[in-house]
Amino acid sequence: MHDLLNPADPAFARDPYPYYARLRAEGRPAARVALANGTHAWLVTGYRQAREVLADARFSNVPPSGAGRPRPDSPAQRARACLARHMLNSDSPDHTRLRRLTTAAFTPRRVDALRPRIEELTDKLVAEVAGRVAADGTADLVDAFAFPLPVLVIGEVLGVPEADRADLRAWTYRVGSPADALAEGEADEAWVRLHAYFTELIARKRREPGEDLFSALVRDTDEGGLDDGELLAMAFLLLFAGYETTMNLLASASLLLLTHPHELAAARDGGPERWAAVVEEALRHASPLEGTTWRRAAVEVDLGQGTVVPAGASVLVVLASANRDPDRFPSPDAFLPDRYLTDPGGGEGERAAAHLAFGHGPHFCLGSRLARLEGAVALPRLFEALPGLELAAEASGLPYRPGLLVRGPRRVPVRVP
Ligand code: HEM
Repeated sequence: MHDLLNPADPAFARDPYPYYARLRAEGRPAARVALANGTHAWLVTGYRQAREVLADARFSNVPPSGAGRPRPDSPAQRARACLARHMLNSDSPDHTRLRRLTTAAFTPRRVDALRPRIEELTDKLVAEVAGRVAADGTADLVDAFAFPLPVLVIGEVLGVPEADRADLRAWTYRVGSPADALAEGEADEAWVRLHAYFTELIARKRREPGEDLFSALVRDTDEGGLDDGELLAMAFLLLFAGYETTMNLLASASLLLLTHPHELAAARDGGPERWAAVVEEALRHASPLEGTTWRRAAVEVDLGQGTVVPAGASVLVVLASANRDPDRFPSPDAFLPDRYLTDPGGGEGERAAAHLAFGHGPHFCLGSRLARLEGAVALPRLFEALPGLELAAEASGLPYRPGLLVRGPRRVPVRVP
């Protein structure tokens, strides 16, 4: 029997890796663990098994009816409930239909065209970080850089006008904050406002389509038969799938570079390929999504080695663990961007295996190209503009976001001596 797993435990949130390593070392395809909230879950922690489960249609993404869905009896709950209809909560054929339309809007050409805007947005935020450091002696990279950048980029994707970006940033901050960090009713109000805003945004895109990806999506969906509820869910999904994950990537990658000065120096001296390798290794080493979204066994599934997952059981594929599987990645706990250079060691050796930070199978991340672009643009610009940047706290004492789904530091305080 395994120890009780308490995802809210600050020590586990900061370093869940020894726990996952123990489960992985047992070598079974999945382990049944008891969670502190009284439920049980099957955790998949090995790299090979993670890929198998994510590609196996017997594990469903559709939440059990009623579970986790707020009853729509208040405006805030109605707003939250509309999120439930997105593609990450669906299986084929619904999933295929929703995903096909979004893939058509997220073409590599459209995503790459965002580069100059991401550069501009980054430079503005970096100037803000520098201003805060000059005024207060320190700044928090999460608050001033890693959080706002992805939200502003999603603003570009959704075609949110410049004048509304501050609102989008404030509402997103509130709906993503823990309840105890806000005044009573603040989160509910933010949900209602986001809901009203996206409803109006869809109507506006129909009237006056722009050059943004979301306009393309609205136009295609009018032809492809998506209803307004599904479009609304899509807007929410793009916001939530795109900001919290990328925020954690930027925060964790910055922290890794600040604590690995040798790697930072190598990235500074190297070109874009080296920065791309830093992004790739940060995705592997500090997987921003600790686990995928929950899967449910639609039928009893025999995974082999005496592991039979009963029908209806909740299954979590732990990407953070699969990405540290020693069978796949030598020295898995070390931060070694070199492993993702095309030609590591000047001609010797091979590029490391693909990590699973963006998932695998039918739900593979739709925004992976955009997320990589954000990392590859933002990190070099931050460290080039602020060459003396250093951590203003003990790295080992930094608090992490609790839970099994997302992982990243809550704060990364920095200073420039
Ligand atoms: C570092 C940043 C990111 C990471 C690590 C990440 C990771 C993931 C993962 C692991 C999944 C699959 C989840 C599962 O199977 O349960 C996923 C799905 C998804 N991601 Fe990302 N993501 C990132 C950024 C983004 C961005 C920027 C966008 C869009 C603007 C985005 C949009 C989506 C969408 C729409 C899905 C659902 C795909 C589907 O259900 O078919 N992601 N992401």
